[in-house]
Amino acid sequence: MFKLNILSYLKIIVYFAVIRKDRYFYIGEYIEIVNKMLLNLTGKKILVTGIANNRSIAWGIAQQLSKAGAELGITYLPDDKGRFESKVRELTKPLNPSLFLPLDVQNPAQIEEIFQNIKNNWGQIDGLVHCLAFAGRDELIGDYSATTSEGFDRALNISAYSLAPLCKAAKPLFSDGAGVVSLTYLGSERAIPNYNVMGVAKAALEASVRYLSAELGPEKQVRVNAISAGPIRTLASSAIGGILDMIHNVEEKAPLRRTVTQTEVGNTAAFLLSDLSSGISGQTIYVDAGYCINGM
Ligand SMILES: NC(=O)c1ccc[n+]([C@@H]2O[C@H](COP(=O)([O-])OP(=O)(O)OC[C@H]3O[C@@H](n4cnc5c(N)ncnc54)[C@H](O)[C@@H]3O)[C@@H](O)[C@H]2O)c1
Repeated sequence: MFKLNILSYLKIIVYFAVIRKDRYFYIGEYIEIVNKMLLNLTGKKILVTGIANNRSIAWGIAQQLSKAGAELGITYLPDDKGRFESKVRELTKPLNPSLFLPLDVQNPAQIEEIFQNIKNNWGQIDGLVHCLAFAGRDELIGDYSATTSEGFDRALNISAYSLAPLCKAAKPLFSDGAGVVSLTYLGSERAIPNYNVMGVAKAALEASVRYLSAELGPEKQVRVNAISAGPIRTLASSAIGGILDMIHNVEEKAPLRRTVTQTEVGNTAAFLLSDLSSGISGQTIYVDAGYCINGM
């Protein structure tokens, strides 16, 4: 959907050369112009974290990045029985990832190994997708004041802090104009029933996006942004008490009278990792069918 066929390329060449009567361009220059006008990730090497299954938002993102031409590295959460590994490997096979590695963001050695692999195999990194979060079920229902200290630390560590060590490891390998995209939710700024500690984690994540944007922008024009997605049924969201009510509420009240899909989030991630968004950094972009504009 992002790529032009040969006929469209020719039409654009005719437009510049015949209709606009611009100076003569070499074919390479035409292709460069067209590619700049399009969402084209050809040649970009992007690491996608957070795929658990075919409902994962990260899966929607990986598919759209691949359609736009990106070469992907995929991570999976290792577990004792290797269930995630085999499921994610099978799922992502059609996208031909050139890297497939374990990542538990609470394990610094795994982060180091991933970026050593990227250095050895890719030489650089053009995009990083941070699409992971965790909070215990007990923390995602009932009173926020009941949050335990351990539950708070774990949720904040996995869901918010993790973006910092990933960016630190990626920093020397980022190409000029590389992009980082993380996933957040409206619960960071509004009190959403049961979202509790995850709302606090998302507030910290959004602040981290701004600080990392300020840190990574000056030297290499690296941009860091967050997508605030509307509620979608996934493995992680099923742990939130009343997730179906959240979705129904959005379907009733959002300007588009529906919630969003993984593909729609994926399209925005592809945009944010492309040269088309070269002027955007430190932002939270809402992909929520317009829900966040509502006053009532
Ligand atoms: N589903 C929604 O309604 C929704 C809305 C807005 C934002 N988000 C955010 O989108 C992101 C992806 O979530 P999802 O809804 O696709 O669910 P998901 O369950 O498919 O993805 C969550 C991922 O986090 C990974 N993960 C958990 N702990 C980890 C750890 N210690 N190290 C590495 N990975 C770990 C899991 O393996 C999983 O792949 C999360 O940040 C989530 O908060 C989700």
